[in-house]
Amino acid sequence: MTDRRTQREVVSFVRRSTRMNPGQERAWAARDRFLVEVPRRETSTSIAVGTMIDWAEVFGRVAPMVVEIGSGTGDSLAAMAAAAPERNHVAFEVFRPALASTMIKLGAVGATNVRLVDANGVEGLRELFAPGSISEVWTFFPDPWHKARHHKRRLIDEEFGALVASRLTDDGVWRIATDWADYAEHCREVLDDHPDLVNLYADGFAPRLATRPVTKYERRGLNAGRKVFDLAYRRQSAPLCTPSPASHTSVSGATSPTGREVPPDPPSRSQSSPIEPA
Ligand SMILES: C[S@@+](CC[C@H](N)C(=O)[O-])C[C@H]1O[C@@H](n2cnc3c(N)ncnc32)[C@H](O)[C@@H]1O
Repeated sequence: MTDRRTQREVVSFVRRSTRMNPGQERAWAARDRFLVEVPRRETSTSIAVGTMIDWAEVFGRVAPMVVEIGSGTGDSLAAMAAAAPERNHVAFEVFRPALASTMIKLGAVGATNVRLVDANGVEGLRELFAPGSISEVWTFFPDPWHKARHHKRRLIDEEFGALVASRLTDDGVWRIATDWADYAEHCREVLDDHPDLVNLYADGFAPRLATRPVTKYERRGLNAGRKVFDLAYRRQSAPLCTPSPASHTSVSGATSPTGREVPPDPPSRSQSSPIEPA
């Protein structure tokens, strides 16, 4: 079997210290409540090819699925999942102390509709979700990788766009936010004309997502005088050229459909409208 990791050797993250404070240590010790363990390949952030998870079994229900990649310390996730108890949320993050902090926040808001995966979300999307099974994908404040020689490490590129589109339901939406203008423009460049995606705000950026709290990264950008850009894409409804899920083997049964949701309102205006710095 081909090792599909070789298709994307360059990853969008760096491994950092796993040192935790006492509160994080306690949360990590009780991680079974939120963390879904996955089989690995050669690295600790990888996911074995062919792994599938029965999310209906994990959550104990079938519900519209939201997937966040790079959830950081979980500020958006905890608030937005608590505000949408009718949805199932799965978040991927590679930094364990951040995952532990997320668990503390999820416990504080009493969220029972969230599961975390300690792995590369690119592999997670590819391996753990069937095509057409996700209602929303969130990538909020992805690492900007400023230097030109590092641009290849940016999470959002054409190939990732195709992967996200393949996993979205017909009316599914991919939400992006960044406080870096050049990354926002980069997203527009690679995604606006993407054959598998449609910009919901064709002439510009999306209005700020009202349910998205201002996190540390957004505050930092605003304080530094930067604008914040939201983007929203849905998949093209035309048939997609996506890999067949037939090669997947399930470890706990078949992945269930996750239901559909009402699509977002049509654009109320045509021009970009990033929020201004505070
Ligand atoms: C700049 S932080 C933003 C965190 C959070 N979204 C927020 O707005 O507060 C980006 C996070 O994405 C994580 N990350 C980057 N690439 C990832 C990937 N491929 N899979 C999972 N996590 C990733 C990093 O570890 C980091 O915690």
